[in-house]
Amino acid sequence: MRTVLIVGNWKMNKTASGAAPFIRELSERLRGLPSHVELVVAPPFTALQAVRTALDPSSRLQLGAQDMFWEDQGAYTGEVSAPMLVDLGCRYVILGHSERRTLFGEQNDGIQKKIRAALKHRLHPILCIGESLQQRERGTTDDVLTQQLRESLSGFTAEALDGITVAYEPVWAIGTGTSATAEQAVAAHQTIRQVLATTISPAIADSTRILYGGSVTPDNIESLLASNQVDGALIGGACLQVDSFVTIASAASAARSIGA
Ligand code: 13P
Repeated sequence: MRTVLIVGNWKMNKTASGAAPFIRELSERLRGLPSHVELVVAPPFTALQAVRTALDPSSRLQLGAQDMFWEDQGAYTGEVSAPMLVDLGCRYVILGHSERRTLFGEQNDGIQKKIRAALKHRLHPILCIGESLQQRERGTTDDVLTQQLRESLSGFTAEALDGITVAYEPVWAIGTGTSATAEQAVAAHQTIRQVLATTISPAIADSTRILYGGSVTPDNIESLLASNQVDGALIGGACLQVDSFVTIASAASAARSIGA
């Protein structure tokens, strides 16, 4: 069975000094949560060290980053590498987020190189894919998801991709307050699993966690997780307050409790 994964993507929010007390409070509030849900926070690079220091060893939270470059080191002004993230205690890295694609020109071939570099350094990539509103309205959602997956995952063996996570984030749902319906999310996740089965392997399709992201809130998390096609959530706005992140984490835990 796939363990539920809840990831908080802070995007460009919180300073290092603001992050530390936030993380201490969040860790404290999450302390009693059953262990069958995995929880990750992905602060900006500038707050990774502060968050790491604020996390005591018993915290339920793991550390992730929001992006990285594919080279290990060198003359790449402004970039951060996988070894640098590992050195700061990161276990996960979000790659190919739609904001990186649309605002910073990222494309599938570069994302593929980043996935390769992350895997080489034993960072778990969270590959983000998703269609725009125009693509959905044209009826090309499945084609877009298929192409993003095929190009980002080309050249990998099934063995190499063990441990990768895919996040389905429809662009039209990100930061808009309009989440995909549970039915839309399930349909997209089924497509993703089908593409993984045919292009990588049925075993990878079965073991890969597929998260939903896009206006996830304490109010809709339960319905989004009602299907076991949805293995968790990638959360933006709602992860920036302790209360809403804790409520989402608790709902995820309840949704997948033994016997649920
Ligand atoms: P929102 O939850 O703010 O819509 O952001 C989703 C997202 O982009 C997470 O990566």
